[in-house]
Amino acid sequence: MIRSVPWLSVALMISAALTHAALAAGDPNAGKIKFATCAGCHAIPGYNNVYPTYHVPRLGGQHPDYVAAALKDYQAGVRQHPTMHANAFSLSEQDIQDIAAYVAHFKPTTQPQPIRGNAAAGQAKSATCVACHSPDGNSVITIYPRLAGQYEDYLRKALTDYQQGTRHNPIMQGMATPLSAQDIADLSAWFASQPGGLITVQPD
Ligand code: HEC
Ligand code: HEC
Repeated sequence: MIRSVPWLSVALMISAALTHAALAAGDPNAGKIKFATCAGCHAIPGYNNVYPTYHVPRLGGQHPDYVAAALKDYQAGVRQHPTMHANAFSLSEQDIQDIAAYVAHFKPTTQPQPIRGNAAAGQAKSATCVACHSPDGNSVITIYPRLAGQYEDYLRKALTDYQQGTRHNPIMQGMATPLSAQDIADLSAWFASQPGGLITVQPD
């Protein structure tokens, strides 16, 4: 077993390098055209999903690695949302990389978003989140989604989905399980209120 470890490390490094090469191939100009079918929901500030009602998440400035992973999860049904499954279903690997490169190129806003919950209480509860999402939700590791500036009600929905097991991710299910409804509301208020974060995709 010990002898196989260096080979495993090499294999992981090669796999990481290949992933990086594939992501570098995303073309934001091609992605802009391919995003046309998505813009009706994701390029309209304040647009809502209905039943249940929550804001369609902001994608502008999100990490491309995370956007690609999310689209593949909708394709595979790991994330269950009928509309997003239908929208992601026919995208090729190249489409996904192009769209991810397009949405990522938007510059984040410096303005904090207006929020309803208790951001200060959320900051006090955020110690367990910062290793991955950074203290202000502007995560620097690209597989961890940026949370800063995301819609507060969408963050609540995401955390509740992990907790209830309707959104599958082993790390986040472990993180969300011990949270109370009040913790979820407070943490969502904190990360949503942070500046330098996500914006709605804007036609440019
Ligand atoms: C009818 C409205 C609608 C359309 C059209 C649509 N989306 Fe979405 N999208 C949503 C909603 C609502 C969610 C949140 C779903 C959930 O709770 O998982 C979402 C989630 C996402 C996410 C995950 C965001 C995150 O923070 O995890 C990505 C990425 C995404 N959409 C990309 C796209 C792309 C690319 C297209 C076009 C190919 C598209 N969407 C078309 C409504 C839409
Ligand atoms: C060990 C790393 C790690 C820690 C710690 C962590 N997260 Fe996450 N978080 C992730 C990963 C990875 C994802 C993406 C999972 C997926 O694809 O569904 C994620 C996703 C999320 C999402 C969904 C974002 C979106 O756009 O849909 C929210 C909200 C979130 N985390 C909040 C938190 C909060 C609040 C805490 C602290 C209580 C926390 N996370 C702790 C790694 C982490």
